[in-house]
Amino acid sequence: MRFLVDSRRILALLSAALSIGCGRALDNLPDLASCGTELDVRPFAQTRDQRFLGKVTDATARCRGGGNAVAGREVPWTDWQNYWATGNESSKAWWATKNLRGVNGALVDLEYERVELIRFNLFDNSGTYPAYAGIGGPVIKTWPAMRLPLGHPNFRDVGGSGEQLCKGQLIRARTLTGICNDIRNPLMGSTGTLFARNVEFESTFPELGVDSIARNRHGGRTTLLIPDPQVISRKLFTRAQSDSSACNDGFGKPGFAVDANCDYQKAPFFNVLAAFWIQFMTHDWFSHLEEGKNHSTYMAVGCASQKVANVERPLSQAEAAKLGCRPNDGIDRSFVADSSAAPTFADGPNRRMSRASRVFRNTNTAWWDASQLYGFDERSRRRVKRDPADRARLLLDAQGFLPPLAPDDPMLPDWAGQEAAGSPDNWNIGLSFFHNVFAREHNQFVDAFRRQQASTPEADCGLRDPANPDRIIKYSDVSPDELFEVARLVVAAEIAKIHTTEWTTQLLYDEPLYRAMNSNWHGVFTTDNALTKALATVVSSLGGSSDPSRANTWYSVLASGPGIFGLGSNKSDWSIKNPDDVNGGINHFGSPFNFPEEFVSVYRLHPLVPDLIEYREVAAPDVIRNKIPVVETFRARSTPLMHQRGVANWGLSMGRQRLGTLALQNSPRFLQNLAMDRLTSPTRKIDVVALDIVRDREHGVPRFNEFRRQYGLRQLTSFDDFVDSRLASGSAERKRHEQLVATLREVYGQHKCDARKIITTSQRNEDGTPINDCLGHPDGSMVDNIEDLDTAVGYLAETTRPHGFAISETQFVVFILNASRRLFSDRFFTSSFRPEFYSTLGVSWVNNNGPSVMLDPRDDNGHSNKPVSPLKRVLLRVAPELSGELSNVVNAFDPWARDRGAYYSLDWKPRKGAENDPAFKR
Ligand code: HEM
Repeated sequence: MRFLVDSRRILALLSAALSIGCGRALDNLPDLASCGTELDVRPFAQTRDQRFLGKVTDATARCRGGGNAVAGREVPWTDWQNYWATGNESSKAWWATKNLRGVNGALVDLEYERVELIRFNLFDNSGTYPAYAGIGGPVIKTWPAMRLPLGHPNFRDVGGSGEQLCKGQLIRARTLTGICNDIRNPLMGSTGTLFARNVEFESTFPELGVDSIARNRHGGRTTLLIPDPQVISRKLFTRAQSDSSACNDGFGKPGFAVDANCDYQKAPFFNVLAAFWIQFMTHDWFSHLEEGKNHSTYMAVGCASQKVANVERPLSQAEAAKLGCRPNDGIDRSFVADSSAAPTFADGPNRRMSRASRVFRNTNTAWWDASQLYGFDERSRRRVKRDPADRARLLLDAQGFLPPLAPDDPMLPDWAGQEAAGSPDNWNIGLSFFHNVFAREHNQFVDAFRRQQASTPEADCGLRDPANPDRIIKYSDVSPDELFEVARLVVAAEIAKIHTTEWTTQLLYDEPLYRAMNSNWHGVFTTDNALTKALATVVSSLGGSSDPSRANTWYSVLASGPGIFGLGSNKSDWSIKNPDDVNGGINHFGSPFNFPEEFVSVYRLHPLVPDLIEYREVAAPDVIRNKIPVVETFRARSTPLMHQRGVANWGLSMGRQRLGTLALQNSPRFLQNLAMDRLTSPTRKIDVVALDIVRDREHGVPRFNEFRRQYGLRQLTSFDDFVDSRLASGSAERKRHEQLVATLREVYGQHKCDARKIITTSQRNEDGTPINDCLGHPDGSMVDNIEDLDTAVGYLAETTRPHGFAISETQFVVFILNASRRLFSDRFFTSSFRPEFYSTLGVSWVNNNGPSVMLDPRDDNGHSNKPVSPLKRVLLRVAPELSGELSNVVNAFDPWARDRGAYYSLDWKPRKGAENDPAFKR
């Protein structure tokens, strides 16, 4: 196929088209070509050590970003962030063509990263890896490990011990446990299947000493509790307070007095709603816990030793007290699904591990199926209350709030009094807000369907029953149970759309990411365009190609054309009778889908949460009436606060307040001292921030530097690399970075390096030699223990970030791979996004963000004629009291009273009319 032949032309065409839409794509090519031979379109890497690393040649950097981009090549961080027009107004060149080059260049770099991530970073733990590693493995589409096992209640329904294929009721909607999303791999992504990995198995669990290279990397310096996690928490994560009595460790002042204050580093372009949104999402995607608990055995969590002058010494009581840590804290160990020695297989001349040394279950469905609302197994479903008056609706009380958990509901005693939900753990006011919002949205859809049912009972509603596919289903035929499941499909797709096109574009607030995220969803081109259709056909045919490496490479690249969402659903002869149509849009790239442990690690985003919420009311939005500690909303304490104060006031409060930046020394005080009834340790408290470190070590997440190498990012060679080199020397901010580096060195230490020790095989030095313990420093010199740095510490220490990035580039790279994959792998977001499953009303509800299209008259960073953003539409429906406030809002995750200003401005200044908001005085 000619499409596969000329990588240069396709990437150039795609990058040009990405910026201006297909109609003008060809016009733009001469401009791209004006960089002439300097345009660096490199081949995709064939082996791991040839990877792109996000670094381009001098000529390419100059072509895309001038001298600034050339200067940025010196540091380990990716180059695209220095291209023209990838930052705010000041990053733009006078020549519009240069700006196009900058943004297009960034998109090309990001696509290279995605292609290589798909190629080099998929490691399934459930036994499929040896086949994947073999010839043709990357296009394997069905796996024995993804069959329903004998004894599964649906074993017979899918074909028993013969070929397994889901059909009938099992494929009609999202199933409770997530089976039959992929109709030929029924078990994939279902509740209780194993977390995957994104890194070579040999690089995981370095402390176990299974792999000699991993042993060399850490030189016996690390264990589960060394460096000490509570010491790390107190020295590197604590929020400094200008007035500790005003903060009171996050408990604020009596009566929620407004003169309480907890200092935190604030992100000007991202609000507190966004913080709780992502907790709401993670409760949909994964959990290591079962019903809020881990294994019954307990372990210590540190506050036992620290490095003094590079030597690990026990902490005295006085030192512990001074740090504020607690030696008697304890926590229940993680459940381990299998810790037996990993089998190995021959991979050419080498033996490779076929899974990690320990594997863990995702106790949730891995699908983006709104299981936090609807449940993920029989037990959690019992908490989900249906309205007895119309079982298609969720039960809400007369004021529109979720009912509390009933005494006979399955639950941890700690949850008593909370509002009922599929995923109730770590409940707080933010989770209460989103659960109530989407329960109301569920009912809004049901009500709209009911109205349609009443006005056109005989009309075809679009749904079909796969067991009886020729029967037209009229509106009047739809049962409450069927409508309930349709509403769930719609709500899950709305959530995925909000996350992809609204949350993420504000999390990564710059032009390349705006385009990248919108192209994941809508495609680069308009949907009814001939090129879109042609590309969709090409992408589908690549899915069936017998050339594995090429097919997967181009699948990813070309999917940006039509978009991932809806891939395979627009086939002119699509039929529910044809399993290949129902399932045909998905692509797992040879490795069954589940989230990797590394994904959980980078979503430990606790610094986002402020200690205190600035509470406001819709009647006078500029007034902060109370400072309500988040900890005072923990679990059941949120119920009266939500019910008395209401969804709209909480939406306003969290919508206007800035969240915490993901940085060192910016974790909530209250989370370091969280009391939890279920704990049986002497203190019955836990430092959640320290626990983040402990859990990642338990789960064998490679430490920061190897993590970066595994994901195709450049390694660091000293803690000094964390100082942002763009800052003037002697500036206050630079001094702050230098101080942090000194603390990192104090906590993690240094060692005398040994150049004979090879520490990784995932990358090589630029001259082709293996990377050794000295990381380029002279043999025998003292080097930083940068290899021991915990990943969560490293990614928070990254001060050099692309413009408007709330997360660091190390977190982002994990996201590039997995955010695409959870769309690519899900039939309901690709080939089964069809009226046969969603109903005609459902499809248009998802596409139009509600019952009808609503356009936003405003220009947004140069984009005009756009629909009103999807979360804003939901809020307008479920909390109409907010309509005045929301009339000024473009993206519901940007602080609501902020002036969005010029191109991707991060300035903190009030929009017109909000000048009296005291938040802008600070
Ligand atoms: C009031 C706010 C919050 C509280 C009280 C809280 C509490 C906790 C606790 C106690 C754990 C440890 C569970 C364990 O391993 O035993 C945990 C884990 C976690 N938290 Fe939070 N959290 C909060 C907010 C957030 C937010 C905003 C995020 C953002 C994504 C988040 C993401 C996570 C993740 C990814 C885990 C790991 C879960 C797993 O391994 O299954 N949390 N949290």
